[in-house]
Amino acid sequence: MRDKMTSQESKILAASGGALAAVVLVGAVGALFMRGPGAYGPTYRQATAGAPADPTVFESVRGKMESSGGAAALLAVTPQALARGKSLYADSCAGCHGDDGNAKTPVAAVMSPPPRDFTSPRGWTRGYTLAETYRTLTEGVAGTGMAAFDTLSPADRFALAHYVQSFGKFDHKDDLAAEAKLLDAKYHLAKMVRGPNKVSVPVAMAHMAAEYAAPRAVVLPLASDRSPGARLCRRLVSDPVRAATILSQLPGWREKLDVFAAAVLEGAPANGFRPAAALLTRAQWRAFHAELVARAPARR
Ligand code: HEC
Repeated sequence: MRDKMTSQESKILAASGGALAAVVLVGAVGALFMRGPGAYGPTYRQATAGAPADPTVFESVRGKMESSGGAAALLAVTPQALARGKSLYADSCAGCHGDDGNAKTPVAAVMSPPPRDFTSPRGWTRGYTLAETYRTLTEGVAGTGMAAFDTLSPADRFALAHYVQSFGKFDHKDDLAAEAKLLDAKYHLAKMVRGPNKVSVPVAMAHMAAEYAAPRAVVLPLASDRSPGARLCRRLVSDPVRAATILSQLPGWREKLDVFAAAVLEGAPANGFRPAAALLTRAQWRAFHAELVARAPARR
């Protein structure tokens, strides 16, 4: 077995002009190529059989038309909004503003200006009404460490505004009717907007794979074509579609015989070529290569 391997290796070496290094290199990349388009479906199914808890797997849905219902509804404080605000705050805000909202945090000491202390009515840049806090979360405060949190839904931003107010035992001077009017006009909160489409990861990957490489098959020569290259093609290409796929993903194979030979030898027969290619002479490799350059269609 060892002997056989070794003699095969030397044949390969002789045949492809020292391409062994390339074979090893291409091996790593080749493992990627082997998967090819469409491989994700089955692979994913295997990997997740009996394990439905994968969070990347859900039914793909088109984003629904939805409205946050207008500002008036969102300005009304509810236990749900406070609970939601509390968990968002712990994730995104407490690091700077503190669990108690008083901004006594390690980072506050090194920030200029420091994060706002929500327990006090003093020193607010924009203001502490719900509408002003909503605007702070939507736009951030330029020139300070306070970023915009506009990737949060409007409802989440309002939930945070309610929770922020809950730290301050002072009058926040809200005029809900006026604020509702202003917010609806400025941020179109009553308008219907399409929510984000949700596509599960395996589905997205399958789409990408299909878009990425759908090369046409290598066109095999007719039996009547008796040229050496044509014969080699018929003999060594076992799967014209797979062979074309492998080649289409391999830059430089048309220009460089070594690159081509390495790709053919690596992973045969799964790559659409027959392992007998290892026995070709240098002259046969040249003929085989030239024939395939002529027959493998360029990318669509
Ligand atoms: C990286 C630190 C940091 C994080 C994280 C952060 N903030 Fe701030 N925040 C600041 C700083 C700094 C200011 C002070 C800005 C100023 O002086 O105008 C501020 C100010 C504010 C103000 C008051 C604006 C005003 O009118 O003075 C509000 C309200 C606020 N943040 C809410 C939040 C909420 C809610 C979160 C989480 C979603 C959050 N912040 C996350 C640093 C942060």
